[in-house]
Amino acid sequence: MQRPHSPHVNRRASQRAKHSTHRTVTPSSDRSASRSHRRPPFKPLELWRRLAISAIFLLCLIATGWILLSALRPPAPIITEQADERYYFADSKYSGIRSKFVTRRSEKEQVSIEYPITGIAPIDTFVQQAIDRHDGEFRQMQSSAVNSPMTETISYQVTHQSDTHLSLVLHIKQDTHGAHPASLTQFWTFDKQAGRSITLRELLMQQEGALKAIVAAARQHVAAALEQQHKPAASLDELLTESHLEHFVVMDRSHIGWPFGQHAFLPSSYGEVPISLPIAPLAEHLQHPLAQALFEVPVPPKPEVTAPAPPAPSASCGATPCIALTFDDGPGPHTERLLNILQEREAKATFYVLGNKAAAHAATLRRIKQQGHEIGNHSWGHANLAKLSAEEVRNDLSRTNDAIRDAVGTAPTSARPPYGSTNDTVRTELSRLGMSSVLWSVDTRDWADRDSGIVCSRALASAKSGAIVLLHDIHSTSVDAVPCILDGLKKQGYRFITASELLGAMTPGQNYYSGS
Ligand code: NI
Repeated sequence: MQRPHSPHVNRRASQRAKHSTHRTVTPSSDRSASRSHRRPPFKPLELWRRLAISAIFLLCLIATGWILLSALRPPAPIITEQADERYYFADSKYSGIRSKFVTRRSEKEQVSIEYPITGIAPIDTFVQQAIDRHDGEFRQMQSSAVNSPMTETISYQVTHQSDTHLSLVLHIKQDTHGAHPASLTQFWTFDKQAGRSITLRELLMQQEGALKAIVAAARQHVAAALEQQHKPAASLDELLTESHLEHFVVMDRSHIGWPFGQHAFLPSSYGEVPISLPIAPLAEHLQHPLAQALFEVPVPPKPEVTAPAPPAPSASCGATPCIALTFDDGPGPHTERLLNILQEREAKATFYVLGNKAAAHAATLRRIKQQGHEIGNHSWGHANLAKLSAEEVRNDLSRTNDAIRDAVGTAPTSARPPYGSTNDTVRTELSRLGMSSVLWSVDTRDWADRDSGIVCSRALASAKSGAIVLLHDIHSTSVDAVPCILDGLKKQGYRFITASELLGAMTPGQNYYSGS
């Protein structure tokens, strides 16, 4: 370590030189006087001029001699100290950081300094200069005569280290026999890549408001600490300001810290006054990406995605929630795929089919029945039954029942009037056929949106035990939504049953909307 001692030495030398001037005046004036005897006539002005020149010449000679002598002369006490200085390098307890330990031992001082060597030159230089400033101040105080040696210990602490950032605290402990505060700190958070320290302002988006909030929180922290330690209250509004908080450390990822030693903003008698604030209450002020890189900053609360409450038990399902998925308007080109999906997930469903499609999709209808699903009557050609005469309604429903029986061997016992459109005539005709009308409680509007994500969300959002869910297997997007619906509801504990199973014994001619 280089130390700037030469100014002290020079100052001393020149002081001695000055002193010598007074001693040398007498002999030089004697010599000049003897010369003047040999050369009359006597000219007082000439004599004075010679005298002055000789005096200056002599003075210079003597001064040079003194300077040379004092430079060569060994033991100025400061040089002795330098001889007492020892240093060595060692690994620190922080990964990737080494320490340079410097010690000086003499009658006047006991010094131990630990410099961090991070390998990042601008940071190492910056910290070394800060340490040397404190050490320099300490050394200047040694001129006062004392009996026991003054002591100085400078060490460092890393509170946080990541690939990108480093938070470091210097602890400076100096016992100068009461001449100076005993325990100081300095601290920074460094951007490793930029090789410079980060200020609090850089962490904040809306700086002024955020700074005020953080300063207020820091004052509150200090006030509470003073009270707890039974120390006198202080007017912190004046004493602790934004400038004190400019440099900070990452304590852990959820706390920002200002590990103040003595005399940072309160008188030394208050002792050390460290400040540590939890990040969470300051989160709204720390949404800057830099703050998020340093700390775990909670995201401001979003509208909560409500976790589905366990479905309430229903009369038809009992304690285990159940639901009836129904598919209208088929069979169609996507029905076979739907049957695969249902088969894989062991789910039962109900298909309200059109009579005019039954013959062409007889094989599909048979597979529906074989897999244990239910087949219902959805009219022959999707007519609005409420607008038809009793006879027309009867013919429409019967014709469809026949087509289904032709395909699968049995006629359905339930119908779903197209558009949910029904009236007394429809109910009467259904009753005569021993059939009931099954409508729905959850409309996924799948025919309108044709978006499987929306269809699934809507089904999951509206589902409850005993619900009857309306879908259409003629739309590819509706079939695409089925895995999502089945998996989502299965997680909530649902089982998937047919409409007839859900509704149990139905009264012919009656309308049913759900099982609850
Ligand atoms: Ni329909």
